[in-house]
Amino acid sequence: MQQLEKSAQSYSLTDWRQGYESQYQESEYLIDDIEGEIPLDLSGTLYRNGPGLLDVHGTPLRHPFDGDGMICAFTFDRGRCFFRNRFVKTREYLEEQKAGKMLYRGVFGSQKPGGWLANLFDIRVKNIANTNAIYWGNKLWALWEAAHPYRLNPDNLDTIGLDNLGGILGDGDVFSAHPRIDRHSQFNHDKPSLVNFGIKQEGISSTINVYEFDELGKIIQQYSYKTPGFCFIHDFVITPHYCIFFQNPTSYNPLPFVFGFKGAGECLDFDSSKPTKIILIPRQAPHEKVITLESEAGFIFHHSNAFEINEQEIVVDSICYAQLSQIDPDNSYKEVDFNKLAPGQLWRFKLNLTNKKVTKELINQRCVEFPYIHPDNVGRDYRYIFIGAAYHPRNNAPLQALLKLDLVTKEEQLYSFAPKGFAGEPVFIPKENGVSEDDGWVLNLIYDSSHHRSDLVIFDGKDIRQPVATLHLKQHIPYGLHGSFASTRK
Ligand code: CO
Repeated sequence: MQQLEKSAQSYSLTDWRQGYESQYQESEYLIDDIEGEIPLDLSGTLYRNGPGLLDVHGTPLRHPFDGDGMICAFTFDRGRCFFRNRFVKTREYLEEQKAGKMLYRGVFGSQKPGGWLANLFDIRVKNIANTNAIYWGNKLWALWEAAHPYRLNPDNLDTIGLDNLGGILGDGDVFSAHPRIDRHSQFNHDKPSLVNFGIKQEGISSTINVYEFDELGKIIQQYSYKTPGFCFIHDFVITPHYCIFFQNPTSYNPLPFVFGFKGAGECLDFDSSKPTKIILIPRQAPHEKVITLESEAGFIFHHSNAFEINEQEIVVDSICYAQLSQIDPDNSYKEVDFNKLAPGQLWRFKLNLTNKKVTKELINQRCVEFPYIHPDNVGRDYRYIFIGAAYHPRNNAPLQALLKLDLVTKEEQLYSFAPKGFAGEPVFIPKENGVSEDDGWVLNLIYDSSHHRSDLVIFDGKDIRQPVATLHLKQHIPYGLHGSFASTRK
């Protein structure tokens, strides 16, 4: 740490790049190379999703987020951890494996400008199922925002097939990779419900479809809202009364090849002269009193949380970028100059539903991405955020640290994996009899470039300044996107 303080750059691009090498191998084994001890009360499976292949039979992908989804499962039981990784066997993945070559290059390549984007929300594009993995209603889903989810066997990760959720999703309907779980839904007798959305692009307008399911995966309610213009909405937030969407000022622009290490969104043109539209759809039927507000531009992939202060005021915390950075289509994403990109920073938006004013305040300067909070506080007032962070306190850089932020005292704790380690999304798992909001385990999958392998690092949420255990895998897992924890089924 001391030595790094003086250095302006905490990483080498060569090290960082190695984390984008394909992982072709599917494996399963009991992890036996462990520093520290796995907590005995950690019981269940951490599922993580992300691109496993960064090339298809030797043809490199234009963007890592086009890579075929690979699920990692870490199953904890009485102080031991069993690891397994499997590709999501989508129809397209199987076709390409059989053909021994890339069949879907045209969808993402520059030879058909605008082609894939025009079809982004069309079910016929290659479903890569690579963004999130969630267990709900006795089903494990691999999610990707422009298609139906893939259903997997939660025990061995075998692919079962596309899931239209019992006929809820019609042809062309999509299911985002960012469902939110309301632990006390007033629409499900105060029991948990899963709320998700899908964006359907229809000419010059977009329809936001919202779905709410009970804990068995049965639909409780379904509603939609049509908004003018192109909609690139990757994530959303809920409160007990609203689903909230930030419609970033984006439009089609197929020529520039857009790169964001922390999100998708190629070929989108971000117009910083236009406002971001904030759409609040009431969860209460008939869902008609939709409120729209405007805020100054900023690009958002991920939100941390939202909550209602009272009937008129709502807080939304989000990772906001001043610009959606773009690079030349001839340059590989692996040549990115992080210093030239706008960092994602944590902002607090205060929405006043009466006077329609939105105020915005920077919570923390550090470059951050992939926030995670205590699951009981989704949609409710909260105190702690666990988030991937850059080592440097201000500069844009790859995520190399875990940051814990206390929104009340503004206190922060940081654990750095720099210079050789690269971090992703932390997952917070509450302890069974936990008292305080940070009483739980934080699991972080780290790419260690010095050994070209990945480590699952476990922290105690109360104090993340030192890990509790580091589990060394036998191989590397390419940088992933999102995941979740399913407690052991009883
Ligand atoms: Co995401």
